[in-house]
Amino acid sequence: MVITMKKIISIVGARPNIIKMAPIHNKITSTSKFDHFIIHTGQHYDYKMSEIFFKEFNLPTPNHNLNVGSGTANHQIGQMLQKLEKVLLNLNPDLVLVYGDTNSTVAGAIAANKCNYKIGHVESGLRSFDRTMPEEINRILTDHLSDLLFSPTKTALKNLKRESVSGQVFNTGDLSVEILNESLKIGSSVLNEYRLSPKSYILMTIHRAENTNSFDNLKSILNIIKNLDSAHKIIFPIHPRTENLLKKNGLMNSILSCKNVKIIPPLGYSDFITLIKNASKVITDSGGIQKEAYLLKTPCITLRTNTEWIETLEDEWNVLTGINYELVLKELKKPKSPLKRKSIFGSGTTSIQIIKLISNYLLDVG
Ligand code: UD1
Ligand code: UDP
Repeated sequence: MVITMKKIISIVGARPNIIKMAPIHNKITSTSKFDHFIIHTGQHYDYKMSEIFFKEFNLPTPNHNLNVGSGTANHQIGQMLQKLEKVLLNLNPDLVLVYGDTNSTVAGAIAANKCNYKIGHVESGLRSFDRTMPEEINRILTDHLSDLLFSPTKTALKNLKRESVSGQVFNTGDLSVEILNESLKIGSSVLNEYRLSPKSYILMTIHRAENTNSFDNLKSILNIIKNLDSAHKIIFPIHPRTENLLKKNGLMNSILSCKNVKIIPPLGYSDFITLIKNASKVITDSGGIQKEAYLLKTPCITLRTNTEWIETLEDEWNVLTGINYELVLKELKKPKSPLKRKSIFGSGTTSIQIIKLISNYLLDVG
């Protein structure tokens, strides 16, 4: 009897997509029930934004790289749709998996839907309720196109039910619990490399469109950094978007002149989470980093006015300040958050649960 393996395709493109795919790839390939193909849209292309994570998580080279690169959202998504259609029709998958909320996520979902393929959305149901954020629209569109929706939190599940999405919804917990656990075992020499002692520095990242797209917002960020410089050591692994925009707007030299601010290139995952774990505080506008700071028990100041990771705000482990220096300073002066945290992101079995649900769906077995 010839058993045909079911074919699953993962579509990734940006740094967080690749990180989220890692445990799913490992579980898919360890079942021997499925063939797994990876399509990289090429949204992120610098070594430190993409390939470094394939190496670190032992992921195979993508079967296809669409090399779409940077551009406006319409250009990026349009290119992705055109190129994805050809590759998807050629591979003829049983299920297409997309991850998170980037342009690669939504393009993957639209392309798969238009080719009549089933779609699974990993990290579905998150909402910031801010429709000016590109990520919010990507989430909503992807969720409403998906057949299997794996939500990381109870709130996300509720959001999906309230919106009456047509696919099947499941609360599987969040992948970051197991990704963090595995990566912490690997260890990192990043503290030595940058001569940092635990809890002696603030870790900062900024890249969101809403914070970096206007000169005024970039100036406000510069104001925060300059004001913190006198009293705090800041480690700032800089996203290429932010670096390019600071340079283009003539603001980079001002930051480089700050004595206590160390700008470093983007880091690999183990190094980066080691920096989160050992920071006194994290200042960020990232989605994933708010959650990782919570899991690693480092208080987080989020330079946004809303968050899709609403549970992290409980007990003030995470606070929303926008890009307002006075509010940031007020938070930095507060004593450490209370010690207890709830395990709101599940117990670290998310990838197992997701693969089981996919197996049930595709193979109709337990
Ligand atoms: C994207 C996601 C965002 C996610 C982030 C993760 C969307 C709409 N946004 O934002 O949700 O938080 O990834 O990091 O999908 N660039 C490089 N090299 C690279 C990649 C980007 O120089 O390898 C520069 C280019 O100037 C580019 C800019 O960064 O124009 C923005 O890149 P893009 O992929 O469009 O969005 P991100 O800001 O990375
Ligand atoms: N990250 C990393 N190196 C860095 C910065 C971030 O490995 O220098 C990881 C981070 O731990 C998180 C992921 O990249 O898991 C996504 O973070 P990013 O802020 O790029 O995207 P977001 O979560 O906001 O979409």
